[in-house]
Amino acid sequence: MKFIKLFLSAAVPAGPRRGSLTNVYLRTFRFGPGEPMSVEVIVGAQWGDEGKGKVVDFYSETAELVARFNGGDNAGHTIKFRDREFKFHLLPSGIVRRGVTAVIGNGVVINPEVLLRELRELEAKGIRNFRLFISERAQVIMPYHIVQDELEEAVKGGLKAGTTKRGIGPAYSDKVGRFGITMGDLLDRELLQSKLELAIAIKRNLTAAYGRKQDFPLRKILESYLAMGARLKKHIRNTSTVLNQAIAQKRSILLEGAQGTLLDPDHGTYPYVTSSNAVAGAGAIGSGIGPRAIDWVVGVSKAYTTRVGQGPFPTELTDSIGDHMREVGREFGTTTGRPRRCGWLDLVALSHAVDVNGLDALALTKLDVLGGLRRINVAVAYKIDGEKVHTFPANINMLAAAEPVYKELDGWEALKPAEWTAISRRGLSHLPSAAQEYLEFVCGELGVPIELVSLGPSREATIDLRDELREGPLQRP
Ligand code: GDP
Ligand code: IMO
Ligand code: MG
Repeated sequence: MKFIKLFLSAAVPAGPRRGSLTNVYLRTFRFGPGEPMSVEVIVGAQWGDEGKGKVVDFYSETAELVARFNGGDNAGHTIKFRDREFKFHLLPSGIVRRGVTAVIGNGVVINPEVLLRELRELEAKGIRNFRLFISERAQVIMPYHIVQDELEEAVKGGLKAGTTKRGIGPAYSDKVGRFGITMGDLLDRELLQSKLELAIAIKRNLTAAYGRKQDFPLRKILESYLAMGARLKKHIRNTSTVLNQAIAQKRSILLEGAQGTLLDPDHGTYPYVTSSNAVAGAGAIGSGIGPRAIDWVVGVSKAYTTRVGQGPFPTELTDSIGDHMREVGREFGTTTGRPRRCGWLDLVALSHAVDVNGLDALALTKLDVLGGLRRINVAVAYKIDGEKVHTFPANINMLAAAEPVYKELDGWEALKPAEWTAISRRGLSHLPSAAQEYLEFVCGELGVPIELVSLGPSREATIDLRDELREGPLQRP
């Protein structure tokens, strides 16, 4: 197939750009013939909402365990199949697949109230015989974290991130401040009480300093969190052991990232980021496995770009094309309902995501949404202070001043969902030729192959290229 060849050829380093040749082919030596790839990480390559839920659900068909490793209920991952829709904030997207063991890893911050609600909703939708393990080490989001999130955002002015107000930042701050509460603590009255006494004393002072007189009633909080702990007890355990045993048995594991690379506090548009690492390396830390256990890293990207919340966004469109993306792509936040800011695909930002995640492949979503646009732009560089720049700047003012340098490509026609599904069934070569050229351009520029193309929200609207890409010793299970 001509296109498979083209996509594969993207794995050969294009000039000085990057060495995905090693990414793809070195693994040939690590795996004996016919051995399955056992641990894959799926991360957002942009500012979140790339379609990770859909991609993880799609890949879960052959997975045995699916683990979330970062973030909390700031995430909103959507899954659609047949006439069913699920929006998960904390539960791993693989949970809807029969036989898949779902894991919430130590790197996640858990609001137990939200988790219990999500479990009730899941059961109400008829998903009952699932297996869920929650790390005893995962941090708990407490009521004072949500208050603190709101108070801190209010004083930050122009430097606020526009958080989801779920208490995410304060919960991670307490973790590294060494007075956080873990899921395991909810099973130990004495320990929880002593930790709560300290935390509440600190938070009382803190809220008073912000000018808010707020009491956090210890007894009430203690009893309600112990009660929630008791309800979740059967799920709470050492999930690192669960995953490491699965690795030893060569069972296939998916690590599901939340948020995206550009929201990562180390590698994103700091300080307009979230508070947990969202890059592939966090997949190991946040799930309790060794970094060498990870066999394959997939970055999910839309065919364009979106962002919710504050911060620079060089390719943002505030015109009718941005409106097209928002309306056709239904770009409204899964968690907060906020309209998402929309813009062209940014290969400077995406190259950065290739580097900091070590992406082996891309899953490109929402290609259907660009249908109906006459011309399509892709940013290939920035102009900053009159200079052409190819690397993603860390300085937020430089990024805000960056003017994208665009490569203009032909658009393709708008098609109905049923037509995109039909194309998905027939394969890549049945895509409109301009859409094929678009994909070819993107993977050629990035030097990373595209192993999945998504043409709609449902499972059926997907072109899966993994078998072609990982043939031979890289066979899937
Ligand atoms: P996540 O946070 O990365 O899991 O993404 P979200 O679920 O927050 O947002 C992605 C949205 O796009 C959801 O509403 C999905 O159902 C939808 N979606 C995913 N892939 C596609 C696609 O290829 N085409 C279209 N039109 N919608 C998609
Ligand atoms: P998924 O997993 C998109 C953004 C918020 C805000 C910043 C900090 O669905 O892709 P936080 O509440 O985390 O302190 O907010 O990060 N944000 C997301 N944007 N998708 C997400 O998750 C996000 N999670 C957080 O909008 O700008
Ligand atoms: Mg989302």
